[in-house]
Amino acid sequence: MHLPQHGWTRDQVLGTIDNYRENDANWRAGRTFSLVYYAGEEVKAVAEAAFLKLFAENALNPMAFPSLRRMETEVLAIASELLGDTRAVGTMTSGGTESILMAVKTARDWARIERPEVTAPEMLVPATVHPAFHKAAHYLGVRAIVVPVGTDYRADVVATRKLLTSNTILVVGSSFAYPHGVIDPIDELAQLAQEAGILCHVDACLGGMILPFVERLGHPLPPWNLAVPGVTSISCDLHKYGYTAKGASVILYRTRELRRHQFMGYADWPGGLWGSPSAAGTRPGGPIAAAWAVLHFLGEAGYLRLARQSLDAALAIQAGIAAIPGMRVLGAPVATVFAFCFDAGDTYRLGDAMQARGWNLDRQQSPPALHAMITAAHVAHVQAFLTDLRAATEEVRGLPPSSEGEAAMYGMMGSLPDRGAANELIVEFLDSLG
Ligand SMILES: Cc1ncc(COP(=O)(O)O)c(C=O)c1O
Repeated sequence: MHLPQHGWTRDQVLGTIDNYRENDANWRAGRTFSLVYYAGEEVKAVAEAAFLKLFAENALNPMAFPSLRRMETEVLAIASELLGDTRAVGTMTSGGTESILMAVKTARDWARIERPEVTAPEMLVPATVHPAFHKAAHYLGVRAIVVPVGTDYRADVVATRKLLTSNTILVVGSSFAYPHGVIDPIDELAQLAQEAGILCHVDACLGGMILPFVERLGHPLPPWNLAVPGVTSISCDLHKYGYTAKGASVILYRTRELRRHQFMGYADWPGGLWGSPSAAGTRPGGPIAAAWAVLHFLGEAGYLRLARQSLDAALAIQAGIAAIPGMRVLGAPVATVFAFCFDAGDTYRLGDAMQARGWNLDRQQSPPALHAMITAAHVAHVQAFLTDLRAATEEVRGLPPSSEGEAAMYGMMGSLPDRGAANELIVEFLDSLG
């Protein structure tokens, strides 16, 4: 492929993109259980229109586009109210990973000043924590110490205490963790951190925009947010259960002093005085405007409606799973994300059998499971899903692990004793893509 010598027509360009999209996952049909959060055409249209209004603008310079600064400030104010502390301050970022990178960088730079004796900083992360924390460790020179989870898949507090050392600067918990949809014991983790005089981050990237509404619908939750004493920062993605355009997350801190460790200024550049709040340089205006727009378009009533619909669908699917002999949901998920496994056959084989019926369920490991992230897009498809799940279960019941499809790949990767080699295989796969 070359840069065309003469530009194509608009129709050629857009028509070709449509052709390229032919085999993309059909998330509108409710058959995909990750990657896309869809609240219907009306919400999507508002997000798109707002995105396009600020399509060209750049939030890197807060003076040039006061509209973006205002929208970001208002989004952060709404988020701080939803996440348990209206005095919290923060930044919008491009997504969960950037928010998490910022939380870890802030902890590292805070420790450089407040704990100068720490030369090899460590953070304690539950085994179920999102890999963005391992990425942060890798990028920022902070060692991630993995804490085991209990039989309920929540961080083991006793093990966490044992792993605390004079090098620990940060304790992390998730509200809720991606793999099993359970909330770590945030109050106990935060207390440990507080007693040790260190920071505590809650990753609510996935749960942050649904848990406030689940709670308001009358489902009691364990302590999970900035309202917990000792929690010093929280991340929450608007582009997940906030149902806005991709590229929108927030990172919030308990105090302004803490947030300052995230920022960076450089006064000696010939290009001018330079300051940047987060990892990105250019900060696209579109995602900020779309997030502001969707929050206002849906309002509390809209989010409550979406939370109720997706929660009802998730509970109906979980009940359907529990009614199939040999199938079970892992742990006690608090909302709309959960994992399930098949004890009367091979779970990965079941995943492939569901795939053959057009349902894309992500595979998990330790233990093998299938993952479901239920949104409003699934509400109309609950019965069709359960009918196919029952049929797929009968097809694979009693059969041994498969040597084909994704089942074979997960089997092979799981059996590699050298985890460094397993990581390398994933990098090789990425390398092979282009
Ligand atoms: C709990 C949790 N944290 C962080 C992330 C990372 O978010 P992103 O993919 O937006 O970088 C995810 C993504 O699924 C997540 O589920």
